[in-house]
Amino acid sequence: MTMTAIAVATPGGPESLQPRTVPLPEPGPGEVLVRVAAAGINYPDVMQRLGRYDPPPGASPLPGLEVSGEIASLGEGVSGHEIGARVVALCNGGGYAEFVTIPSGQVVPLPPGLDLLSGAAIPETFFTVQQTLVMRSGLQAGMSVLIHGAAGGIGGAAIQISRWLGARPIAVVSSEEKADYARSLGASDVIIHTRKDFPEAAKALTGGEGVGRIISIAGGDMLDKNLRALARFGTIIQLAGLDGARSELDIGRLLGRQATIFGSTLRPQSSALKAEIAASLVHRIWPGFAEGRINAPRIAILPLAEAAEAHRRMETRSNHGKLVLVTPWGESLETTA
Ligand SMILES: NC(=O)c1ccc[n+]([C@@H]2O[C@H](COP(=O)([O-])OP(=O)(O)OC[C@H]3O[C@@H](n4cnc5c(N)ncnc54)[C@H](OP(=O)(O)O)[C@@H]3O)[C@@H](O)[C@H]2O)c1
Repeated sequence: MTMTAIAVATPGGPESLQPRTVPLPEPGPGEVLVRVAAAGINYPDVMQRLGRYDPPPGASPLPGLEVSGEIASLGEGVSGHEIGARVVALCNGGGYAEFVTIPSGQVVPLPPGLDLLSGAAIPETFFTVQQTLVMRSGLQAGMSVLIHGAAGGIGGAAIQISRWLGARPIAVVSSEEKADYARSLGASDVIIHTRKDFPEAAKALTGGEGVGRIISIAGGDMLDKNLRALARFGTIIQLAGLDGARSELDIGRLLGRQATIFGSTLRPQSSALKAEIAASLVHRIWPGFAEGRINAPRIAILPLAEAAEAHRRMETRSNHGKLVLVTPWGESLETTA
């Protein structure tokens, strides 16, 4: 049996993403096979395509970190999952495909109220934010959270999770259109960084105190600006190094702020930790979907075969919300639903 999957022919531009006919994967012990309705696109996929973010040892070399779909079969020893259940899942790779095998602990029910296309836009960003902002940095109700790239995938998840848990999300974006979108997701305040110095604006919004948590995705002079915006005992969560992977650190400012800075990447984490994050999401965040207080991000949908075009759009920095690839089976489901 075969299926269509998107492969990276050779590292390079979007055109290096090409449909291939490959063998249908079989679930190993502890894995489930998911029939994919849709696959979400994330910036780390672009980095992988460029050859700058290699899959960890043992992971599929095919791109795609998140999917929605139905459970098609169960590997040996899997319990707690049923064939035919509608799910979303964090993949270790291989999500841009008609089928993908995934460790069972990374597969969770479709968030209540979402359809499969929107569901595909959830796992990678929600797992990342839940692990870093909630579980590791200990986000508490009442804290202010400054969110860079707030109209993107990670940013949108950070706004919604912060808001749901009673924190105050302050969005940083580049345009009025993105500001409107960030507000629609629940941002309490929005700073348009192309018009205002964001550290000054963040201080003004917090009565001079600074913010308790910062989700940062850029390097260069962003680290110093973030420290200027941070409250005493605050934490900077560094998720990427856009605009340069090196920064100069003002140690005096770090000490004065009693600050914590940590970095994290989701993909190389163990299956055990990913399963722990999954359980935490279902327990703490899925009720927000059930109550209609967390909503699906805005999605732009393209056919699986047009993965290259989806990457082009992501790289122009013009898109807001999430990009999603739909399989032929996913398309047929949505049109008959
Ligand atoms: N560490 C992890 O575990 C992890 C997991 C997933 C993603 N990431 C990383 O997180 C970042 C965001 O991913 P995503 O999927 O949310 O991407 P996305 O949907 O494309 O959103 C990125 C947003 O970041 C802003 N941005 C783009 N280039 C920037 C730059 N050079 N400096 C500052 N801001 C910039 C843009 O907003 P404005 O135009 O409004 O500024 C854009 O809307 C990526 O770098 C990705 O690799 C890390």
